[in-house]
Amino acid sequence: MDTEASPGSLPYLPGTGRPVPEAEPELVERWRSGGGELVELLSQVRERLGGVAAFRLGPAPTVLVTDPQAVQHVLARHPERYVKRSHRARLLIGDGVLAATGEAWKRQRRLLQSQFTGTGMRRYEQRITEAARTTAGRWDGYARTGQTLDIGQEMRRFALDAIWRSLTGHPLDDGTERELAAVAAVATALPTLPADATDAQDAVAADLARIDAVARHAIEAARGGEAGPDGPGLLHVLIDAATERPEYTDRLIRDELVTLLVAGHETTATTLTWLYLLLDQHPAAREQALAGGEGSAQRRQAIQALVHEALRLYPSAWILPRHAAEDDTLAGYAVEAGTDILICPYLTHRDPELWPEPEHFDPRRFTTPDGRPAHPGAYFPFGIGPRACLGLQFALRESTVLLEHLLPVHTPAFHSTPTKAVYGITVRPDGPTPATLVPTLT
Ligand code: HEM
Repeated sequence: MDTEASPGSLPYLPGTGRPVPEAEPELVERWRSGGGELVELLSQVRERLGGVAAFRLGPAPTVLVTDPQAVQHVLARHPERYVKRSHRARLLIGDGVLAATGEAWKRQRRLLQSQFTGTGMRRYEQRITEAARTTAGRWDGYARTGQTLDIGQEMRRFALDAIWRSLTGHPLDDGTERELAAVAAVATALPTLPADATDAQDAVAADLARIDAVARHAIEAARGGEAGPDGPGLLHVLIDAATERPEYTDRLIRDELVTLLVAGHETTATTLTWLYLLLDQHPAAREQALAGGEGSAQRRQAIQALVHEALRLYPSAWILPRHAAEDDTLAGYAVEAGTDILICPYLTHRDPELWPEPEHFDPRRFTTPDGRPAHPGAYFPFGIGPRACLGLQFALRESTVLLEHLLPVHTPAFHSTPTKAVYGITVRPDGPTPATLVPTLT
């Protein structure tokens, strides 16, 4: 195709005016009429047209970026030129750090950053370990009675407990857990809701009210000086901030609390669920991970490699949208302000030129030298650049600690396993994951 680019449309090569490769409308139509997942269309676009290519779902084009250099350019080198815009999850997380932009985001990020790194992070390690022990105890019970459990639900329960303890200083109680099921209900509904529809709020109003009630109760308890058995939580840091910084209104404290609950549990839970499904298919990988003795650095590293390989195949935040705030040059193409960009770690992580046999689950990629591409834009399940995941250390720590407790003792024997993935806000298994526990053979 050799059409002249017009302003506000496709990126183009300066000089020749040749536009970025664009998917033919028939390809989009075929995908639409087949009713497939968006990822299938994106995958075809990348395969046919390369690491920077465009497609149109409506009149305006979207540029799909999967090439590592271009990924790094957008997310890490020039994040000020490619911004987040009207986050779909705003309905749920309001002005929390995940959706905030500009100066407000900078201030909010600075406050939370210290909590999630170095000494800040060490404060939460004990809570993570307690949450892992609670899950391990529950699993001992299931194993004794032969009761069926759902691995996905168990992972969600653990991840929610770990973040709830870190936020409030209290273990997750059954009542709060029941009420917070509303978070998953809203998150599942979000991708199908029109971004700015006025009735969108109504569709999830009851669930939002339940979440707000939980948040209000937790904030009141923390404000009342109730520190919880594990000492003050992150929520106390937000409340303390309010004494000197008027922007921390009750609304913003609620938004940050809900943001950390949302961002901090579904992602980890689906990663761990995928890992269990992958290990079911690759039992040798489990044995290799347990080869180092209990508590050894070798075992810890091998378990982390399992988590990384699961995140390579199923990066829970599988798609990262950005919007060009100013004109730029990306991979040689002139990009005009207003262009929509989609970064897709899921596809970059499965690019055969970067990852040999990309569909194959092989944790050794993360334990052997040169086992993985060194480019930061080739593997980025937590994003890269200033908006990268705040909870990276937290997520890796909680996953490793939980698996150190569970893997050597219990192995799920699945009754059935989902055959497909759903690509919503996170990429998750399409269906329940019932299992009974059998002793791990080593
Ligand atoms: C395996 C688990 C996790 C994965 C794969 C993951 C992935 C990501 C990714 C890719 C981003 C960047 C989004 C973008 O650039 O558009 C992000 C942002 C974020 N994550 Fe995570 N995350 C995980 C766990 C957590 C946890 C446990 C927490 C909190 C305790 C957390 C809190 C956040 C927050 C607050 C942001 C927004 C940062 C900002 O915009 O400044 N995440 N996460």
